[in-house]
Amino acid sequence: MTTMESLIGLVNRIQRACTVLGDYGGGTGDNAFNSLWEALPTVAVVGGQSSGKSSVLESIVGRDFLPRGSGIVTRRPLVLQLHKTEDGTEEYAEFLHLPKRQFTDFAVVRKEIQDETDRITGKSKQISPVPIHLSIFSPNVVNLTLIDLPGLTKVAVEGQPETIVEDIETMVRTYVDKPNCIILAISPANQDIATSDAIKLAKEVDPTGERTFGVLTKLDLMDKGTNALEVLEGRSYKLQHPWVGIVNRSQADINKNVDMMLARRKEREYFDTSPDYGHLASKMGSEYLAKLLSKHLESVIRSRIPSILSLINKSIEELERELDRMGRPVAVDAGAQLYTILEMCRAFDKIFKEHLD
Ligand code: GDP
Ligand code: NA
Ligand code: MG
Repeated sequence: MTTMESLIGLVNRIQRACTVLGDYGGGTGDNAFNSLWEALPTVAVVGGQSSGKSSVLESIVGRDFLPRGSGIVTRRPLVLQLHKTEDGTEEYAEFLHLPKRQFTDFAVVRKEIQDETDRITGKSKQISPVPIHLSIFSPNVVNLTLIDLPGLTKVAVEGQPETIVEDIETMVRTYVDKPNCIILAISPANQDIATSDAIKLAKEVDPTGERTFGVLTKLDLMDKGTNALEVLEGRSYKLQHPWVGIVNRSQADINKNVDMMLARRKEREYFDTSPDYGHLASKMGSEYLAKLLSKHLESVIRSRIPSILSLINKSIEELERELDRMGRPVAVDAGAQLYTILEMCRAFDKIFKEHLD
């Protein structure tokens, strides 16, 4: 692994450790860990209902594991951490709420996401801001933290409270408002980009477009004789980063169990043979998007090294105080976890400093 890869890996592990600490991670308490969590970049997937958010996320991971379909399927935020492991190791998933259980069957992962969603929201169309934390360990992923969110919507449907439209928007905003959040703004190509919920929100929270990646899904569903070049070439709505066009699996593909690898090959073929997008082919598709994001993340982390370092040092101090308070040596679980994080922070500090030299 390169130094940068191991740095991003370490950032990922610290984020995960902060989360495991419960009290600290993702919470609102005023401590060094929450500041640290917020200083670390994450990628949030935003867009209208059924725009293809969950599908894009799955393509990036290269695995079939999310509940998908029409209507409101994603009803709690899913914080997904990808951890790149050594080549040849077995791929597995782990939920924060089910520590010690390793999932190797991704159909079971999907089932658990559904069940865990229902545990909080009931089997309704209600939503909850309480996130589900899932980690995937695999040699085939890039180190990334991705957040799948409920889709923005304009009207409440039967069985939903009137406030749902606002509630979803508020929930999405708590993620995308943060300056360290990279926004993956998903818009379907078969709808007018001027009506895109994702772009509307991105424009508002990131007016310069420096942390927004425009993703155009459903290119295969556009009317015959039309194409999306106006959008993909940045003439409809210009962002700092290039737009990426995507062809995910259709509902029919999903029903036929078309697997991810075949879907990726079909997507590649779509662009390679397309009369409209041939000249853009090397910059289109899910695999390209994953690489683009990882490269961007790397440059963000690089530019934040000094500020992350000072937060890490604050965290180390806070941890040492906490451990002193508990009295060392610490036998209890919480102490052991704090200790692990302390070790990670120190390792991070060391690699970062070496990296700066
Ligand atoms: P979400 O609600 O934004 O998470 O959207 P999903 O990923 O659940 O997708 C909603 C529906 O659109 C599913 O039936 C997908 O199969 C379908 N879909 C998503 N992206 C594409 C695409 O690029 N092409 C086609 N044909 N269908 C897609
Ligand atoms: Na959906
Ligand atoms: Mg979804």
